[in-house]
Amino acid sequence: MGAFVLLSDSPAATRRIGRRLARHLRAGDVVLLQGELGAGKTCLAQGIGEGLGVREQVKSSAFVLVNEYEGRLRMYLADLYRLSEPAEVADLALEENAAGGVLVVEWPDRAWEEMPRERLLIRLRWLDDRSRELSLEPEGARARELTEKLVTKSGRRRR
Ligand SMILES: Nc1ncnc2c1ncn2[C@@H]1O[C@H](COP(=O)(O)OP(=O)(O)OP(=O)(O)O)[C@@H](O)[C@H]1O
Ligand SMILES: [Mg+2]
Repeated sequence: MGAFVLLSDSPAATRRIGRRLARHLRAGDVVLLQGELGAGKTCLAQGIGEGLGVREQVKSSAFVLVNEYEGRLRMYLADLYRLSEPAEVADLALEENAAGGVLVVEWPDRAWEEMPRERLLIRLRWLDDRSRELSLEPEGARARELTEKLVTKSGRRRR
C-alpha cells in the first residue's frame, strides 16, 4: 500500500478529517503530523481531539513539549518544534508514556530516529490560503488499517 492523498479546502474540512480518523483510534496508536509552519498540523490535531471527546481547547504550547488531554481516550500531543536536540526526545519516552492513549506528534522531523516505527504519518502541504494536501503514509499493519478506514469513500490512491 502506497500513500493516499486527501484534499482539504478549509480549516473546518481539516478538522473533520481529524474527527473521522479519531473514530477509529485506539490506545497505542501513533499519528505523526509533518508539515511547514501553518500547514495545519494543530488544526488536524484539534479535529482528532474533538473526535476523541476532548472538551478542552487543544493547542500546541510554546514551553511544554507534551500536552495531555482527557477524552474517550487520552490524547498526548507532542510538539517537537522547539526541541534543541533529537536526543532530548528520548528522555520523554513518548511511546511508553502514551501507551495508554493516542500519541499525536507535530514536527516529528525534529527527531525522526526517535519516532515509533509503527505509525500513521500524515504530511500536510500548503496549496493555497485555504487548501491543503494531506498525504497518508502508514507504517505497519495497524496504520495501514487506519488509513484504509479513513480513505474509504473519500480517498484517492496516488499513482
Ligand atoms: N484547509 C486548511 N486546513 C488547515 N488549516 C488551514 C486551512 N486553510 C487555512 N488554514 C489556516 O492555516 C493555519 C494552520 O495553522 P496550524 O496552527 O494548524 O498550523 P501548524 O501546522 O500547526 O503550524 P505550526 O508549525 O506553527 O505549529 C490556520 O491559521 C488555519 O486557519
Ligand atoms: Mg502547530
